[in-house]
Amino acid sequence: MDLHSNHESRKSGGRWPEGFDRIPDEDWLKKPVEESAMRYNKHGSNAFNKNWDPTIAQVLSVLDDEHIILDYSCGTGLFTERLFEYFSRPTRILNVDVSPKYLRVVADKFKLDDRVALRLQKRISENGQLQSLDDTIGEVLLNRGIDILTSANAVHLYPNLADTFASWNRVLRRGGLALVSTGDMSNPKKRQGDWRLHDTVEVVHTIAQEIVKTEPLFEKYRHLIDDDSLMLAYKEIRSRVYPPIKPIDLYLDELSDAGLEPLHHFEEWIEISTTELIDALVPYHDVVLGWIGGSEKVEGDPPTQEALRDRLFLMKYCATKLYMQRDRLRGPWTYITCRKFRD
Ligand SMILES: C[S@@+](CC[C@H](N)C(=O)[O-])C[C@H]1O[C@@H](n2cnc3c(N)ncnc32)[C@H](O)[C@@H]1O
Repeated sequence: MDLHSNHESRKSGGRWPEGFDRIPDEDWLKKPVEESAMRYNKHGSNAFNKNWDPTIAQVLSVLDDEHIILDYSCGTGLFTERLFEYFSRPTRILNVDVSPKYLRVVADKFKLDDRVALRLQKRISENGQLQSLDDTIGEVLLNRGIDILTSANAVHLYPNLADTFASWNRVLRRGGLALVSTGDMSNPKKRQGDWRLHDTVEVVHTIAQEIVKTEPLFEKYRHLIDDDSLMLAYKEIRSRVYPPIKPIDLYLDELSDAGLEPLHHFEEWIEISTTELIDALVPYHDVVLGWIGGSEKVEGDPPTQEALRDRLFLMKYCATKLYMQRDRLRGPWTYITCRKFRD
């Protein structure tokens, strides 16, 4: 694999190119860490953390000290944290995300570690359009080029795959790798009873409707089920955060069209407990069952404490009912390895 061609600065391990600020001085970094981001960060200490291991093995097999890795959609920096458990080399890793609240956690974790830099990919219009990745990483790094780009648990969220993959192509060096993984892709080897977040969210919503229709305790929410426009608004939010599952061939074709040749793909199963699955849903309670008690995103007001309690109870109850009290579940994850073969 040629990750070494055209390199103007091969002897800079551990140092960022001149003119590149590791942590930019921006206002969002001065805000306190949010509780919901810390809740997401708990994935680093439960069974979910196994999902990064195949990608880490791939990275370690090609890594050298001079490389710069870009973790796209890095969240709270869990991939970097896990990677650093396996080596103490000066390889640098740039964490990029669209969420200031998640990146704020990255800044806290790595402020003293020179190997880690971060960049916020800003939203530049009201309809959510993102700053280009080129502008996000800046000219200095763009000219140098990225050696390995990783994207874990996020590719299913990108609304425009062609645009996103084209931006990966522009920041990668020729021969550079893109390592993509997600548990929310169609997987032909998926067995009945395996879970995926998207399916879980939709079925939890359906079971909750049944319970609200029949259970006197939740009668106060019953009229909401017949409010078509309200239900549609919540459906749209659910499908934005947990989009419908797309087939792997679509991703492979889009990657290839963007000049990122898919070299290989494979599936792995990660076993998690029902409790860990519920913990993964809880930070997104206003998406999963926002219509129970309402949410700021749709009605403009947050739920009352009582409604929030009902919502959390229903989420846990429905997830447990869905998985029939099983202790452990299998989650199918898909991994794709690509190489940039043309600009
Ligand atoms: C489930 S988290 C995964 C975070 C991290 N990669 C991990 O494995 O823990 C999904 C991430 O995708 C980011 N994201 C959401 N929508 C995105 C978009 N349209 N483009 C790029 N990133 C997005 C979120 O901010 C979030 O950090």
